[in-house]
Amino acid sequence: MKQYRWLVIGAGGMATNWLRRFLPAHGERVRIAGIVDVNPDVLATARHDLALAESQCFTSMAAAYDSVEADAVAVVVPPRFHRQAIEGACERGLPILSEKPVAESWEDVRAIVRATDAAGVPIAIMQNYRQTPRIQTLKRVLDTGRVGAVRYAVGRFAADYREPLAWGAPFRHEMRHALLVEGSIHHFDQLRHLTGQDCLTISGHEWNPGAPSFKGECLALYVMKMSGGAFAQYEGSGLAGGWQNTWHAEAYRLECEGGAVVLDRDHVVRVQEHQRGRGMRVEEVPTVAMPHEGHAAVIGQFMDWLDGGAAPQTTLADNLQSTAMLFGAIEASASGSVVDVQALVADARGDGGP
Ligand SMILES: NC(=O)c1ccc[n+]([C@@H]2O[C@H](COP(=O)([O-])OP(=O)(O)OC[C@H]3O[C@@H](n4cnc5c(N)ncnc54)[C@H](O)[C@@H]3O)[C@@H](O)[C@H]2O)c1
Repeated sequence: MKQYRWLVIGAGGMATNWLRRFLPAHGERVRIAGIVDVNPDVLATARHDLALAESQCFTSMAAAYDSVEADAVAVVVPPRFHRQAIEGACERGLPILSEKPVAESWEDVRAIVRATDAAGVPIAIMQNYRQTPRIQTLKRVLDTGRVGAVRYAVGRFAADYREPLAWGAPFRHEMRHALLVEGSIHHFDQLRHLTGQDCLTISGHEWNPGAPSFKGECLALYVMKMSGGAFAQYEGSGLAGGWQNTWHAEAYRLECEGGAVVLDRDHVVRVQEHQRGRGMRVEEVPTVAMPHEGHAAVIGQFMDWLDGGAAPQTTLADNLQSTAMLFGAIEASASGSVVDVQALVADARGDGGP
């Protein structure tokens, strides 16, 4: 078994979990070769906790790239710094596993696609919510064909972030498009995952009704036309004062030919099958078990890929479809129009588009 030496860009916030839980879940297969954080206090704490040498800890990405011998790079800094981290890895020919979203701006997304294409490095995006038992259970029911084709999917995220800093890091409360960029990218990706279809067009709105806890947009309602004939609807709220569907408790409902498959915050997947004159039959589906879940699962799949195995589901090439939904949603709201998501994908790839 090959041991992968990881250079981890970011040592605070979510990176704390990467460094202390998600990467160590793979035991001897993983070694932390170096860490980078611009905050010296965060760096010192991580260095102490992980028993790293001073020579493994850096406050600049460039210095780390110049001296750390690594087999893979994890990018776990806020989205606006992803491009710098990914371009640095490309210059050294290093495989990259980056936190979502690909980047904070479409310009950066385009630059990242071009840089990784030119360098020919493997790159995948962390979409950990696909790899959870509740979602895998839902997906397996759909894949059996028991309820037939998906007619439309409804996704709901609702979290009570009405207090300042309720959503953790300050940048989420200060950035533009906060809910879409930091939150909805997961749900757009999940709607693709569950329907098994890409998004053709998106329309709808993001807005801030004047909530003091956010400078940016924190509510979102969207409709999507998918590539296989299905449609999808998304409701996202960072100001939920009622029923909560927060992280790992998002609600999904797949309305299919022969019934519906639903999942809500109680984590139980239910198949609802109605027969005219006979009423409704509801079956609770046992939740699947997984050897690794969420981040740890994706990290394992990424290393399997580097070992010569199958690519993870969420390579950059795949995730560009979800990323184009995200930036299509921003454009749809700004212009009040229906946005061609596939034109955005083509634009990022450099093969046409706007
Ligand atoms: N997949 C998930 O479930 C999930 C959950 C939370 C966050 N995230 C993602 O993780 C990434 C980081 O978010 P976070 O919540 O950890 O943010 P954070 O602000 O809590 O932490 C980011 C860390 O990066 C450091 N940093 C900032 N700029 C840097 C730079 N240029 N070079 C090196 N270090 C720098 C900061 O000092 C800080 O310690 C984002 O892409 C976010 O979307 C993903």
